[in-house]
Amino acid sequence: MSKKTTISLIKCDVGSLAGHHVVPKPLFNVAEKTLKEAAEKGLINNFFVFNAGDDLELLMLHERGEKNNEIHKLAWDTFTQAAGKALEMKLYGAGQDLLKNAFSGNVCGMGPGVAEMEIEERASDPIVVFAADKTSAGSFNYPLFRMFADPMSTAGLVIDPHMLCGFKFEVVDTLEDKSIILKCPEEMYELLALIGSVGRYAISRVWRANDDLICAASSVTKLSLIAGKYVGKDDPVMIARAQHGLPAVGEILAPFMHSYFVQGWMRGSHWGPLMPVGLKASKCTVFDGPPRIVALGFQVANGKIANDDEGNPMIADLFDDPAFALARHEAMQNASTLRRMGEFEPARLSSEEMEYTTIQQVLGKLGERFKPIKE
Ligand code: 13P
Ligand code: 13P
Ligand code: MG
Ligand code: MG
Repeated sequence: MSKKTTISLIKCDVGSLAGHHVVPKPLFNVAEKTLKEAAEKGLINNFFVFNAGDDLELLMLHERGEKNNEIHKLAWDTFTQAAGKALEMKLYGAGQDLLKNAFSGNVCGMGPGVAEMEIEERASDPIVVFAADKTSAGSFNYPLFRMFADPMSTAGLVIDPHMLCGFKFEVVDTLEDKSIILKCPEEMYELLALIGSVGRYAISRVWRANDDLICAASSVTKLSLIAGKYVGKDDPVMIARAQHGLPAVGEILAPFMHSYFVQGWMRGSHWGPLMPVGLKASKCTVFDGPPRIVALGFQVANGKIANDDEGNPMIADLFDDPAFALARHEAMQNASTLRRMGEFEPARLSSEEMEYTTIQQVLGKLGERFKPIKE
């Protein structure tokens, strides 16, 4: 069997400059140093460090498989060191997403978000990775459905004979910790019945139906369910594989031509419009947002992100493009409509979702003042 390549995208909010705004340079420096050392030792083949707002994102290519102890420990140690630096600099929310003290095998369930995909490299393997800030697990349900199941969005589902077989979706029930696999197009309505409830169900993996080729992986960590309270938002990551019998890169990006609504704006307690941005604008400002998403494209080549002539990984900043200006404009228009509603639903999340926020402390004080209504 040929050697397999693993793409690991592991993220963590370890602290931010000026509130929950952006990862500052000194934290990038920590991450770049530890990953460079790991690459020199041969633990990983190459890497790219970036940020989605205040979340530090480690993209690593290696040959050790998914949920690998050494790779996850490298990520955990990197985040711990960066959090230490953040604490020293008195950055905001230092170590925010490091919810457990001691590393135990892999980072799943410890706070960091993980999307991983082990692949057998095709002759050419284009990959797009996504990372979002001020939003929650389940926020990728809508675009993943559009990419792999909606023929009005992905033309290949109709035009490419290799895609007519459809795709299989693994959906995680984040409340009950169980999962189900549904096949499209046959079970499209059942799939939508589940994944429309974005606060509870999240698509975690997608495969091509006829040969089980892995095509997408997304993080489904719910920080509030690990911590039992609000500690910051999940800010998920996703990996999608493109072309040659899979959606084209352009079809993977098409769902982001328009903004759509996600949970997680200000204090993790509000709906907000998702804004696709280039890395330069990957920072949250107004009302701690609006929620933003970046998309980076690359080619996998011999276990690595394909390098340029100088040996640097070649990364395409896909949302850094006027083609997404309309979505950005829509996002701001929708943002202003929602913000006019202040603390009224549907601008604020439903009371069920608010159970994991600090509003409970406010409401708790009112509890004993409620009196039964006498007829
Ligand atoms: P604190 O100011 O108490 O940290 O909470 C506000 C906030 O930023 C919520 O994440
Ligand atoms: P993060 O989850 O991005 O830290 O945001 C916390 C928050 O509450 C911002 O308002
Ligand atoms: Mg934060
Ligand atoms: Mg964040």
